Amino acid sequence: MKQVKKFQVDVLKHWQKNGRHTLPWRLTNDPYRILVSEVMLQQTQVDRVIPYFEKFLKKFPTVQKLAKAKLGDVLKLWSGLGYNRRAKYLHDAGRAIVERHGGKFPRDYTELRKLPGVGDYTARAVRVFAFNEPDILIETNIRTVFFHHAEVFHVACGRKRHGTYADAEVLPMALEAAKEGTPAAGGTRVWHWALMDYGAYLKKSGVRLNDKSAHYAKQSKFEGSNRQLRGRLLRRLMDGPITKSAFKDISAKNVYDISMVLGDMEKEGLVIREKNTWRID
Ligand code: ADE
Repeated sequence: MKQVKKFQVDVLKHWQKNGRHTLPWRLTNDPYRILVSEVMLQQTQVDRVIPYFEKFLKKFPTVQKLAKAKLGDVLKLWSGLGYNRRAKYLHDAGRAIVERHGGKFPRDYTELRKLPGVGDYTARAVRVFAFNEPDILIETNIRTVFFHHAEVFHVACGRKRHGTYADAEVLPMALEAAKEGTPAAGGTRVWHWALMDYGAYLKKSGVRLNDKSAHYAKQSKFEGSNRQLRGRLLRRLMDGPITKSAFKDISAKNVYDISMVLGDMEKEGLVIREKNTWRID
């Protein structure tokens, strides 16, 4: 068997035997649910996302319900998941889908990219997982698979001798692998689930290849960070407006630092400032 074909067969076999077939966002092809999951899964582990995903969809089962919600209620459900900006983007994206598209998700890449907070990966992920469109996804687990099996693609894609792999070098491998018959494998949806799960398995088995990626960004230290402060401020704001006098109960950081972080959050539309009072809409 051709090397690339064998690679594909092996990845799919692994999927059939060990795939995560019951992840809640894999039991649906509703683009709204797919978008919620992909936004949550950015920077957050699968196990942590599951309960948030389920709670979120119970409260906002449709994009219409999300669009009608108050930002404060969306943020409350997000509390503890981190990177709250994602919640604000998701809320804005929901509103844009209702206002611009009559509540129906576009399939078109360019249209998806116009939605707030929807970058290249997320737009393609919606196309793949909701619509089974022939796109290529590159994310952390999938990079691991191609780094680990780069030799399979040496003939088709050229040999890499040293240094890190840019996504531009992973892409030809991913295209070559997908060419070997994703239709037979249930389309791009199943193929990408299989790649992701095989990559997750490789990592769990001790393969650590992320530092081979030119796109690998380590998460910065949380304790004492502005990210931590943002979370604290938001949780406090969910109970009602705050003034400067509350700052010292929230953080040991000085008034200036706290005001800066609130200023950033105001620019992002997460909080509203009126004189010396901050609140959530
Ligand atoms: N299934 C679909 N998208 C996923 C993702 N980003 N991470 C893990 N599993 C997924």
